[in-house]
Amino acid sequence: MSNFTVLNHPLIQHKLTMIRGKEVGTKDFREVANEIAELMVYEITRDLPLKDVEVETPMGKSIQKTLAGKKLAVVPILRAGLGMVDGVLRLIPAAKVGHVGMYRDEKTLLPHEYFVKMPSDIDKRILFIVDPMLATGGSANMAIEALKKRGAKSIRLVVLVAAPEGVKAVQEANPDVDIYAAALDEKLNQDGYIVPGLGDAGDRLFGTK
Ligand code: PRP
Ligand code: URA
Repeated sequence: MSNFTVLNHPLIQHKLTMIRGKEVGTKDFREVANEIAELMVYEITRDLPLKDVEVETPMGKSIQKTLAGKKLAVVPILRAGLGMVDGVLRLIPAAKVGHVGMYRDEKTLLPHEYFVKMPSDIDKRILFIVDPMLATGGSANMAIEALKKRGAKSIRLVVLVAAPEGVKAVQEANPDVDIYAAALDEKLNQDGYIVPGLGDAGDRLFGTK
């Protein structure tokens, strides 16, 4: 079973509550979604390995720590995942960015893949899939499969709001993928939206309807 972790840092909780409000406009929604992504990535990179390096400060030589080898990539599920990329890159500016294009059929709720472009060495990278919403889990599972098919070996799924149904679906289909959420909400409604959720994340980020 994959690990599922709710990152309940007070700043993350506070900012998520802010953007749940239906009166919040596109500019603020986009800004705060990225801030949450930045805080989440800070939390979930605590286990990155370090190695010793020699550094010469103005006071002389010393041995200090630096990140050891393992390269990273952030992979937004289009569109809404784009709303978390800048926040991640603020902390990991050298990360590569892969893209997985996917939309959910509004009637069947089944995902459809329309675009995949990944760095060539994804087998050597830790991949952070980002998407604000984990609802039925169909999109996340299809994105994970698309990355595995191309050689990915280490995947973490980072979402703002998760529904229990989506967590279960990813845990069952991809037990090797760790899932991180800013919140675990109550349920899905009959239209496949997370309740209380924050509505349609893509529309709120990009000002579409
Ligand atoms: C939303 C969301 C996820 C997906 C979650 O995207 O950003 O990708 O739905 O639902 P699921 O867990 O049931 O698959 P949507 O398909 O609405 O596309 P968008 O990002 O272009 O708005
Ligand atoms: N996609 C969204 O954008 N919101 C939901 O609540 C579910 C899927």
